[in-house]
Amino acid sequence: MKVFFIGGGNITRIVLEKLGNRIERCWYYDLEEKQIPCQFIGNSFHVPVEADVVVEAASVEAVKTYGIDVLKSGKDFYVISSGAFADEEFTRKFAEALKHSPSRVFVPSGAVGGIDIICALEGYLESVKLRTRKPPTAFGMDSNSISEPCVLFSGSVYEAIRNFPQNINVAVTLALAAKDFNKVRVEVLVDPSISQNIHELEISSPVGNYKLVLQNKPSPNPKTSYLAPLSLVAALKKRIEKFIVG
Ligand SMILES: NC(=O)c1ccc[n+]([C@@H]2O[C@H](COP(=O)([O-])OP(=O)(O)OC[C@H]3O[C@@H](n4cnc5c(N)ncnc54)[C@H](O)[C@@H]3O)[C@@H](O)[C@H]2O)c1
Repeated sequence: MKVFFIGGGNITRIVLEKLGNRIERCWYYDLEEKQIPCQFIGNSFHVPVEADVVVEAASVEAVKTYGIDVLKSGKDFYVISSGAFADEEFTRKFAEALKHSPSRVFVPSGAVGGIDIICALEGYLESVKLRTRKPPTAFGMDSNSISEPCVLFSGSVYEAIRNFPQNINVAVTLALAAKDFNKVRVEVLVDPSISQNIHELEISSPVGNYKLVLQNKPSPNPKTSYLAPLSLVAALKKRIEKFIVG
């Protein structure tokens, strides 16, 4: 694979390490040059002609700024900052550009699970409940200021994004899989008894009801769960494997 990364930070570093020699050549664009084994393309954004895939591992803003240029390049595009698609105006323009582009866009499951179930339930899905529990420090709160779990927010994905932009990617990935933002409800709790970020999912449908608990450990960037870069690695590996599960 010849890969062009948008963002040369924590996720890109892990993906490079895990994919090893499956990557024949790579380039990256970032606001500043990083110490990674990839070629920095400099300060002006462009998709290298030789690349066969573009991987965004930067930020929601980066998807909104460069996403349409990627589609113009016609390369396949992997987007980890799925929260960009919570911006309805951007998503409308992106979808229009995608209609006229040979690119295919892939949104890996990131720090969440159950995406396979939600996708398989197309036409049957009734609702998805995401209950996110985090320790007080994750909300910038003093650990001693709270003695028991407390609900900070309960509402739609759009409201969740307005109130808790840090949970945006996971909630939006679920909403994209559901193909309906209104089917996903989000609850955010602060819990002084935990040290990890815990996502609890309840998926309801006439086909079956499903409960999943994800206890994510952080990557070297504490804001990013280790599972997120690993999901990108798994998605990219599918490009080159002949026997694909899931
Ligand atoms: N889907 C998920 O579940 C999930 C989970 C964790 C993180 N993420 C997303 O992945 C992103 C990257 O995570 P990370 O741990 O690698 O972060 P990081 O901060 O270690 O690395 C991000 C890199 O991208 C660069 N960057 C950011 N915005 C840019 C822009 N507009 N133009 C050029 N470069 C830009 C930064 O300079 C940095 O080097 C996060 O911002 C988040 O949006 C998604």
